[in-house]
This record gives sequence, C-alpha cells and structure tokens, in this order.
Amino acid sequence: MQNNYKPLRIAGIGYSVPDTVITNNDLTKLYDTSDEWIYTRTGIKERRIVSGNESAVDLGVEASKNAIEKSGIKIEDIDCIVAASSVPPQLYPSLACHIQAYLGIPNHIPAFDMTAACSGLIYALQVARGLIGSGLYKNILIVAADNNSRHVDWSDRGTSILFGDGAGAMVVTASEDDVDDVLSLDIKSDGTIGHYIYMNTPGKNCPLVEPCDELDSYIHMAGRDVYKFVVTTLPDFIDDCIKQSGLSAEEIDYLVPHQANQRIIEAMQTRLNYPDEKVISNIEYYGNTSAASIPIAIVEGVESGKIKLGSTALLCGFGAGMTWGAAVIRLREGIC
Ligand code: UT7
Repeated sequence: MQNNYKPLRIAGIGYSVPDTVITNNDLTKLYDTSDEWIYTRTGIKERRIVSGNESAVDLGVEASKNAIEKSGIKIEDIDCIVAASSVPPQLYPSLACHIQAYLGIPNHIPAFDMTAACSGLIYALQVARGLIGSGLYKNILIVAADNNSRHVDWSDRGTSILFGDGAGAMVVTASEDDVDDVLSLDIKSDGTIGHYIYMNTPGKNCPLVEPCDELDSYIHMAGRDVYKFVVTTLPDFIDDCIKQSGLSAEEIDYLVPHQANQRIIEAMQTRLNYPDEKVISNIEYYGNTSAASIPIAIVEGVESGKIKLGSTALLCGFGAGMTWGAAVIRLREGIC
C-alpha cells in the first residue's frame, strides 16, 4: 500500500460512443484534404460524432450505467461523482450533476467536474484515489465525456480531422482485499505553454466599461508544438511512473495511451520496446475522444480480445493545460 492510503479497487469500466460515423472521405466535402493525408499523419480513418441534441451527457450516462453494472456496486451506494470533461455541455450545472440526475441517484452526494482536458481520466483517478485513500468516500463514479465535434471549427482542417466524441466511466471503490489497483500514478501540468491548445468562453463586458476583445469559441491547437512537447516530455515521465510501480516495463502487460495520434503512440511503443500485441490503439475508428479515449480503449481492447483481464496496464495521457499523467493499474477479472 502506498503512502499509508487505503487501497483502491477498480470495480467497473464502461464506455459509450455516438452512432454517427464521419469518415475521412466525408471530410473532403468540407475542405481540401484526403483520406491518405489524414491517415498517414494521424492514424485516423473515421470518428463518431453527436447528431441533433445528443450530447456528452447522454454518452456519459450510458458509459456510467455500463461501468456501474460491471462493478456490481448498487447505484445508491455511489457516494461521489467526479466528471472530467474538456468542455461540458453546460458549465453549470456540471456534467457530474447532470449525470447524477439522469442516473437517478437519490442521495445528496457530491458531484463535480474537473478540467484537465485529455488527461482528465488520469487526473480524476488521482482525485478519487485521494478521496478513497483518505477514507472520505468509498464508491466513486468517474466519468470522462466530451462532444468535441461541437467545438471544433469545421473549416479548420488542422483540428477538425482529429477529434471524435465519446465517454468512458470507471467505478472505483475502497479495496476489500488490501490490494491496490493503482500501482503508481502521477499527474503534472505546465501552464506556461497553455497556448498550445486552448478554447475561449467568450463573453461581453458590462456596457458601462471598456469592451473586452471579441473571441471565438473554437478549439485552437498548435499541432506541431503539441507533438514535439509530447514526444520530448512523456518518455522520461512514463519511465518514472513505471519505476514507482515496482514493475519493470516488460512486466507490464499493456500500454493504453491517450489516443491522440498514431505516430505519438508508436513513439511511446518504440521507447518501451513493446511488441504490437501490448499496445492498445483504436484511434483509427474513434479519433481523439479527449479524456474518454483511455477507458474506451480499455473496454474495446477487452471486447476485441486484445486485452486479457487479470493483467496490468500502463495508462498515459496529455492534453490542454498542458497537462499530462500516467498510471500503472491492475485490470481485474470482470471489470468490463
Ligand atoms: O489531445 C490533443 C492533443 N493534440 C495532438 O496530439 C496533436 C499533435 N499534432 C498532430 O497530430 C499533428 O501536428 C497534426 C496531425 C495536427 C498536423 O500534422 P503536421 O504534420 O504537424 O502538419 P502541419 O500542421 O505542420 O501542416 C503541414 C501541411 C501544411 O501545408 P503547408 O503549409 O506545408 O503547405 C498544412 O496546411 O499540411 C497542411 N495540412 C493539411 N493538408 C491536408 C494541414 N492539415 C491538413 C489536412 N489535409 N487535414
């Protein structure tokens, strides 16, 4: 057990994606691009996006239901909800409060959002670990959900090719057998390079004072800077996280990275010297679903037979902030 904290058990993981598929060829109707350019640079062939009034709330509710069902924990025993969304459908009420309502959780439990963009799942797991580890709460629902497709500029071919919509959820609980499913976890941020990926929430000053700048509300990204930052910063950080887990890189069964770019995933794979079977990638079909990408990849990996449960996995994510995080976790039988 680390730091005299109460150990945590990952009890259930679930996900949900919208039905609507947009392929790279579909995007050629919007701007000058090609399936070949997008696939070669990113590994993405298609992404799922919301349609009509469907939103991250619906996806988050569905993912939560799946995770709760797998966990075997009764819905009324959930005592806290932590939601990680880059852009929740409403800034308030929070995504977590919406999910509490839609799940019909009758108790007045705390439900709140936290923002760490695509690192959100790992950040939320650290928050849950602190809350469970200290004994404050016992059964926490973590939800990561985003509908990025509503926030990209669909005339900007640098960003709109990348993102997809989706949700992942994890139920974590105080471990009954003293085994901690989080072998190591670390999160970091560097606000001085926040301009690499940003999105404004525009507003207007009171008419009695000088007006503020008029801003758009699209996702902006300096793709090359993000790419360089990730491939230079993450490898040593991941090495440290592996060391803290007490396992060697070889002993960890799977790498489940944030699905941002296949070339970034391959750079991590090369650094870890992992064969293809150990690396979970589904970016081809979903694009970058922000904080949801890791739980989606875990559950899909299990469904497709690539991940065998009763194993360990190295998770790593990065995103706006810039934020980044990594964890070595245990994937017990029956969690998804
Ligand atoms: O969780 C969020 C994390 N974000 C990321 O992980 C992003 C990491 N970065 C990337 O994935 C890459 O930087 C991108 C895929 C976004 C872009 O690839 P790139 O190799 O960095 O391309 P670029 O932006 O430097 O653009 C190269 C060229 C440009 O043309 P010129 O100026 O050289 O004539 C662009 O206009 O490619 C052009 N281009 C495109 N061409 C066809 C940019 N986007 C497209 C496109 N189709 N979709």
